[in-house]
Amino acid sequence: MPEIHWDSKLYNEQHRFVSDYGADVLQWLDAKAGENILDVGCGTGDLAAKIQEAGAKVLGVDASADMIELAKQNYPTIYFEQKDAAALDYNREFDAVFSNATFHWIENQRGLLRGIYKALKHGGRLIAEFGGKGNVKSITDAIDQAAKELGLEHKVISSFWFFPSIAHYANLLESSGFETEQMWLFDRPTKLTGEDGMLKWINQFAQHAFVNLNEEETKSVSELAVSILKPAHFKNGDWIADYKRLRIKAIKK
Ligand code: BEZ
Repeated sequence: MPEIHWDSKLYNEQHRFVSDYGADVLQWLDAKAGENILDVGCGTGDLAAKIQEAGAKVLGVDASADMIELAKQNYPTIYFEQKDAAALDYNREFDAVFSNATFHWIENQRGLLRGIYKALKHGGRLIAEFGGKGNVKSITDAIDQAAKELGLEHKVISSFWFFPSIAHYANLLESSGFETEQMWLFDRPTKLTGEDGMLKWINQFAQHAFVNLNEEETKSVSELAVSILKPAHFKNGDWIADYKRLRIKAIKK
């Protein structure tokens, strides 16, 4: 997957819902005072802060230097490190590993799960939520259709995320040594605020699609995709994106 540039300011201002929704996943984590918890893909650190509020000791890691810098500014009492999620090098240090809205960005899933398995103490838990099968399909379909209408389909790459089914991910977890305790795949329609909400989402999250296009082509494809999406996804001044989440709880055996 090409490298993504994370605009932490845009993320913080327009896409805060990522960590707001993550608060729900924290219920599955159920962090206890005194536990050691690793937050993989911590972004701007908001959920790491909530874990710390429960009395646990948290280490937040993220591949983006920009995100880590903002996390450190936001939460100076929490330890954050820039690290690739597929190259974790911790050894039986954590009672739990937590992750929200990150796994779908990781190409090397076996490397990711190997590192998490090694980082956990025996009996430790992995709680994660990310995009599941069918996630944002309307958006990727609209990008494909726009690219086709503009004769640019051979240059646009719309499927670069990993959105697995329950069966696929259970298999990956179990072949990596985990026991799957709970798994949900569910629709979570997600509001993107403002008339330009969808364009901002595409600019921030789907920038990979356009790596082979120049600025003008990128603008044409993304604006046409937005107009294709508008009749079904723009309601009462806001956009609704068709998010589907895969939420898991797995135990290191
Ligand atoms: C997600 O959280 O599901 C997601 C975010 C950005 C791009 C794709 C998926």
